[in-house]
Amino acid sequence: LKFVCYANDGIDEHMIWLIGLKNIFARQLPNMPKEYIVRLVMDRSHKSVMVIRHNQVVGGITYRPYISQKFGEIAFLAITADEQVKGYGTRLMNHLKQHARDVDGLTHFLTYADNNAVGYFNKQGFTKEINLDKAIWQGYIKDYDGGILMECKIDPKLPYTD
Ligand code: ACO
Repeated sequence: LKFVCYANDGIDEHMIWLIGLKNIFARQLPNMPKEYIVRLVMDRSHKSVMVIRHNQVVGGITYRPYISQKFGEIAFLAITADEQVKGYGTRLMNHLKQHARDVDGLTHFLTYADNNAVGYFNKQGFTKEINLDKAIWQGYIKDYDGGILMECKIDPKLPYTD
């Protein structure tokens, strides 16, 4: 089992994993237009943290780091159907936080959570209360209805992964 983080950098193996992740998103997020999923997963300003097992993608998170504003926007998150509720989603989020803090220098995440994912995000430290100044993120993250804006502060020191 491994956790990796890649953008669309033209390397074959990374592309294969990103396509696998895109297929999981398309299946698990049926309300999202497929072209929109492909566009963001393959966009060079987005990155994806993925769980790889037996050389196959089990799930992942696609996000966009806004480096100068020090926050990241989570665009999509999913674990393949038969591997849900086994703890991968939690471990994935911990790897995302560690990578975002240590590599991108981020302090916060924002996401529009689907109604049914609010419970999961709560358990990962996200709240509906937004403390980040609106001036920092307004106009950067895409407003979309059907989702609830949630925020997570990344701990500056905590070791999120072992
Ligand atoms: N609602 C409430 N609690 C949940 C949900 C949920 N939908 N999913 C998992 N949990 C709970 C688990 O019971 C577990 O609780 P525990 O720690 O008390 O035991 C905890 O959250 C973590 O569970 P994991 O096993 O780590 O979660 P999993 O690997 O299943 O990943 C995920 C969670 C990503 C939401 C997965 O269930 C999934 O892919 N769902 C379908 C797609 C989806 O809804 N994605 C999010 C859409 S919002 C967005 O993309 C921005």
